Amino acid sequence: MLEVRDIEAGYGSSQVLFGVTLSIRQGEVVTLLGRNGMGKTTTVRAIMGLNRISAGEISFNNQPLGRVAPYRAARAGIGLVPEGRQIFPTLNVRENLIATAANHRRAREPWSLQRIYQLFPRLAEREQHLGSNLSGGEQQMLAIGRALMTNPLLLILDEATEGLAPLIREEIWRCLELLKQQGESILIIDKNLDALMRISDRHYIMEKGRIVHQGDIQLLRDDPDLKYRYLGV
Ligand SMILES: Nc1ncnc2c1ncn2[C@@H]1O[C@H](COP(=O)(O)OP(=O)(O)O)[C@@H](O)[C@H]1O
Ligand SMILES: [Mg+2]
Repeated sequence: MLEVRDIEAGYGSSQVLFGVTLSIRQGEVVTLLGRNGMGKTTTVRAIMGLNRISAGEISFNNQPLGRVAPYRAARAGIGLVPEGRQIFPTLNVRENLIATAANHRRAREPWSLQRIYQLFPRLAEREQHLGSNLSGGEQQMLAIGRALMTNPLLLILDEATEGLAPLIREEIWRCLELLKQQGESILIIDKNLDALMRISDRHYIMEKGRIVHQGDIQLLRDDPDLKYRYLGV
């Protein structure tokens, strides 16, 4: 469904991506790995149309993206949980969830507030609290809930468990497992290899703006060399 072919992108005159190629098929959970500063977020920004690509192609369900306005990626059905969460601080939980709700894909069972609250009961308890008054974990749940409320065909999570306490982190992984079971297509950027092994079908590893390795994530587990070389673990 998502095809990224040989893209180059950067910030101003500094080039960050030097030919990134990756793809995601319907129903797959794919992981993008790599140390800090390797270009993972920039790749996501390019997919979302937030960074313009200077070479290559991006298409989603055979629609060209990459050189179109940012809203087109969301319209086409890509839901982003951005790095740093970026929820609306002056809206409460409920308002955050409905602010960008949409059903462009005409899902037969669209996400509703009730379904989000089922997934994250904590959000129901905090329904009237402002975004700025939530804990980091709650903000993260809200960011995921908000993305789901757009009924995305593809969900992208950029460091969704970063900086969270272990229990909250586990709650997020459980939710992602559930989404996988429901057949959602997901691109995950995260550093937690053990949790990724549970849900990821394939992985790509990025280094200095290039994909340097790809394959079955289970094989990565048994390759300490590779893990050390590209992930520093
Ligand atoms: N807004 C920005 N302006 C200029 N350079 C940036 C900006 N954001 C990221 N970079 C640079 O781009 C490179 C890749 O960053 P990023 O895509 O955020 O990496 P990752 O998500 O893998 O940690 C880094 O060298 C970073 O310093
Ligand atoms: Mg990043």
